[in-house]
Amino acid sequence: MSRQRPEVPAELRVALPALRDIAVDMAVGAGELVRAGRADAVAHAVATKSTRTDVVTVMDRLSEDYLRRRLAVERPGEAVLGEEAGIDKIRGAKRASPVTWVVDPIDGTVNYLYGRPEYAVSVAAVVGDPTVEGAWRPVAGAVANPETGQVYHAYDGGGAHLRDRAGARPLAVTDVAELAVALLATGFGYAADVRREQARALVEILPAVRDIRRGGSAALDLCAVASGVVDAYAERGVHVWDVAAGWLIATEAGAEVLTWDGGPGRPRGILAAPPPLLAELLELISGAHQRARSATP
Ligand code: IPD
Ligand code: CA
Repeated sequence: MSRQRPEVPAELRVALPALRDIAVDMAVGAGELVRAGRADAVAHAVATKSTRTDVVTVMDRLSEDYLRRRLAVERPGEAVLGEEAGIDKIRGAKRASPVTWVVDPIDGTVNYLYGRPEYAVSVAAVVGDPTVEGAWRPVAGAVANPETGQVYHAYDGGGAHLRDRAGARPLAVTDVAELAVALLATGFGYAADVRREQARALVEILPAVRDIRRGGSAALDLCAVASGVVDAYAERGVHVWDVAAGWLIATEAGAEVLTWDGGPGRPRGILAAPPPLLAELLELISGAHQRARSATP
């Protein structure tokens, strides 16, 4: 069941540009660390998480430690939810702010491992409870790709922007309104049974769109929607840290972002698209997954 997402508290509004600046600073700083340490990270222990394909390098952990250390100094008393260490709960009297920081220390870890340039650090400030589906809302965030020098950022109501070597510019989604000519980004989970279903759904989706792109970083996929280098993005089973900052960046660039029901006991899916494409794409994606689920033993 999807819930009512919390509103942005009025007293927080004035602080949003500053939260965005912190997110940018953190994501860029961690990105530099991650990029500089790649050779070492690849040479040293690589552990696996949920499955053999779900890798974590030493640099994922060092990057998250860096983000947590800096946030503790710059935003003391605010909770942090990170991919590697989970959530540290700072509740009650100690909790000075409604903000929780949601960080992905490396999104696109498989690309990072292989030396492919599509990975990023994602940092978002959210309100509500990011551990509960539908109960949170991103209010400021940044996604930094340390290989390309691109930094995508946004705050609620402030538009989405890209800063790169060419300068800074506002972002906007495409105006594609027809599914048959829409370029769709997607991604796959790490578990074999999830992939089986995703592959079955693709049999229906692929012939209905212009083409599919699988970049390897959900955060950058959402930024790709924001910058119009794909038309839309959909994936089932992503985590809040993969999408919190990108969700806001895509929304502020004019996309509609929502989640769709993945079926009983299954994680929800995320969809980001320009408004004219939304209804048709949602029907295609959620229907294809539903039929794939029934066909997957
Ligand atoms: C993964 C990436 C990938 C997506 C997976 C995520 P990680 O995050 O965002 O594009 O398809 O669902 O888990 O493991 O690289 O941080
Ligand atoms: Ca991730």
